[in-house]
Order: sequence, then structure tokens, then C-alpha cells
Amino acid sequence: ANIPVICIDGPTASGKGTIAAEVARRLGYGILDSGALYRIAGLAARRAGLDLDEAHEAEIATLVRELPIRFTPAQQILLGDEDIGAAIRSEAAGMDASRVSALPAVRQALLTLQWNFQTLPGLVADGRDMGTVIFPNAALKVYLLASAECRAERRYKQLISKGISANISALRADLEARDARDMSRSASPLKPAQDALLLDSSVLSIEEVVTQVLQWWQERQ
Ligand code: C5P
Repeated sequence: ANIPVICIDGPTASGKGTIAAEVARRLGYGILDSGALYRIAGLAARRAGLDLDEAHEAEIATLVRELPIRFTPAQQILLGDEDIGAAIRSEAAGMDASRVSALPAVRQALLTLQWNFQTLPGLVADGRDMGTVIFPNAALKVYLLASAECRAERRYKQLISKGISANISALRADLEARDARDMSRSASPLKPAQDALLLDSSVLSIEEVVTQVLQWWQERQ
């Protein structure tokens, strides 16, 4: 089947989720937030009392295969009957996700689940390896960048607006540590696909980035 896929990959807090959601909304496509899956994997492993390291790779992968994960049409993320959207959004959950996502068996355990998101009329997939590994034949691959300073500032504003206190230099250190781990791992490291189009959003508004992605998409039709 020829189901259109748009991949949006890039480092932490580059705006992938926001851009992917808006592009999907305008095209009427579905959305895959692959980072949420790794966040759930990290959370589930923690709850099971497992250390997030190679020694527990097989156990975590088995656990992940059996997780009752569901995305509702209203974009809620359910684990069984529990809405875990808020629990997986913390910085700590992001760091845990980065740890379990470096384990190849855990990535393997999430493959089919991710492929199943490819349904008509189309899919916008955001993550780290959408264009390089999961959907190598995607019609459009965007690699979204932004300076570390800019990403830390966006994350800071996002947290403050939710009434969560935050420290901008600690946030920056955290996101740089997470990117370094994601780029240096051997299993599906974060890097642009060979045929990805690079887009630096540091000085662009959300609307400008969305417009650029949609324009590239139209050019490929
Ligand atoms: O995008 P998000 O910040 O939610 O991703 C959390 C973590 O999950 C990332 O830092 C990365 O380690 C991992 N991840 C991944 N592959 C993806 C999406 C996320 O390894 N496709």
C-alpha cells in the first residue's frame, strides 16, 4: 500500500511534537509520537523496579511487548485505563526514556506497534529514527534543529506556563546530556537521514516551520 508518511526527527525540544501535530491536523493525517512510547517504556520499567540498563534489557523488552498502550482519538495516552500523559512528560521521564531507548531489544519490541500507525489517509511521525529506521521509504523526511540555547528557553517557558518551576541552565544541561546519549548510542542513533531536509527553527515561528513543511510536502505530490 502507498500510505504517505512524513517524518519529523530531531533533538530534544526542537519543536517536533508541536510541528508534527499541526502538520497532521492540517492534512487530516494521523500522528505517531514515538518518544511517548519510549517514555512509557521507561516508566513501566521503573514501576516494575527494574534498573534501566543492559543487565535488564531482555526483561524490559518483554515488559514493553505486553504493555496495554492505547492512543485515543483525543490524543490521550492510556496504559490500561490509566491516563499517563502527565506522568511521562517530566524531564526525569525523558531521561529514563533515553536510557531504555538505547537498548536494542527495547527498540525491537516497539517496531510493530510503530508500523501499525501507518494508516490512511497518511501519517506524521515524530522522533529520532523515523526517517532513518522506522519509515525509510517515507515521502518526506524533515530534520528539525534549533540551538541548545533556544531549545532550553522554549522548554523553560513551557514548564513555567504550566506552573512548574524550572532552571534554564539545568534544563540546557539536561537536554544536551540527553542529545549526546541519543546521538552516540549504537542502536538507531539520532542523525538526519541521508535524504532528510534540514530545517533550523531557532529564528522561525511555529507557523513558519509548519508552512515550510507543508510546502515541501506539496512539492512532492
Ligand atoms: O521526543 P521525546 O523527548 O519524547 O523522546 C524521549 C526519548 O526517547 C528521547 O530522548 C530518545 O532517547 C528516545 N526516542 C528514541 N527514538 C524515537 C523517539 C524517542 O530513541 N524515535
